[in-house]
Amino acid sequence: MTLDISIVPSANPRTAAQVAEILADPGFGTYFTDHMFTVEWTPEKGWHDARITAYGPLTLDPATAVLHYAQETFEGMKAYRHEDGSVWTFRPDQNAERMKRSSHRLALPVLEPEDFVQAVDALVAVDQRWVPEAGSEKSLYIRPFMIATEAFLGVRPSQHVTFMVIASPAGAYFKGGIKPLTLWLTEEYTRAGRGGMGAAKTGGNYASSLVAQQEATAQGCDQVVFLDGAEGKYVEELGGMNMYFVFADGRIVTPATGTILEGITRSAIIELAHQSGHKVEERLFSIDEWREGVASGEITEVFACGTAAVVTPVGTLKWEGGEVQGSTETGPLTQQIRQSLIDIQYGRSADEFHWMHRVL
Ligand code: PLP
Ligand code: COI
Repeated sequence: MTLDISIVPSANPRTAAQVAEILADPGFGTYFTDHMFTVEWTPEKGWHDARITAYGPLTLDPATAVLHYAQETFEGMKAYRHEDGSVWTFRPDQNAERMKRSSHRLALPVLEPEDFVQAVDALVAVDQRWVPEAGSEKSLYIRPFMIATEAFLGVRPSQHVTFMVIASPAGAYFKGGIKPLTLWLTEEYTRAGRGGMGAAKTGGNYASSLVAQQEATAQGCDQVVFLDGAEGKYVEELGGMNMYFVFADGRIVTPATGTILEGITRSAIIELAHQSGHKVEERLFSIDEWREGVASGEITEVFACGTAAVVTPVGTLKWEGGEVQGSTETGPLTQQIRQSLIDIQYGRSADEFHWMHRVL
């Protein structure tokens, strides 16, 4: 605990009735809690002026560096309420470590993991009435982010940086609930190249995915699949999720990292799959292996995973001029892994891997 956090409560918090109405159907990323966390950084003072204040708009000079050169990083995580009323986050140390790696890539300062976790815990504590009740699959989605806030148009690392945490109650990420996604394979756009920012969680990667996602939507698909930038041959990931392929012999393959965002859900699934006796291969996985494996029946299940999407089955893969149809139902292993993961997150089964962090 190294941050000295001041708390100025909101003068206009939502009423209990308003919170209840929002929590009944929160959607994703639409409603925000009553407060936000902020801390500033300069080379002279380091991190300073940590505070929790009323949620509200920022005032930024039009020359603020992040608006021009996108020097920013962010994280995505959730707080879960357990049956006994306690509130927990899932592997927050991993989000903190990933932000450290992302920030290194974006030439942003290091926020020590313990300060990151302290900031998240402090905001969740202040806005605890926004963590949905146990017994549903709702949660409080938490969005920590770091932005270059120096007003300066020269191209160099910002000398003023702001780290913030906001939170938003969340229901299902996909409106249709848990039904297999149809994916669109983009052969025109890529999201990362060698030496690029693919492994960092930074806004630019999402900005660059949007036109491909638009193409996917126009093709009647839910999400876009990206291939590697060098050869256009190997599966990387979706716009906001990692991928898994289940083989008839019980093996599970997930594309190797390097240019993809190394998901915290992805790494938890590796452990869960090992525990239930499956061999997990992290390796290059070609688009041909996907197409041929599904067509031949060698690949029996495909699923995507991430904090927002949890574990979501994948059905059909479409591309310009073709498609391969997968299952129209959630496969048994997809279902099992999804259930094991959410049972740990919601405290319904033992936390054998010590993934849960108690906030309240
Ligand atoms: N890949 C991308 C591009 C993402 O945005 C996300 C979501 O955060 C993931 C993968 C999954 O990562 P995690 O499981 O840590 O949420
Ligand atoms: C997350 O899963 O936390 C993400 O950041 C993905 C984003 C597309 C919502």
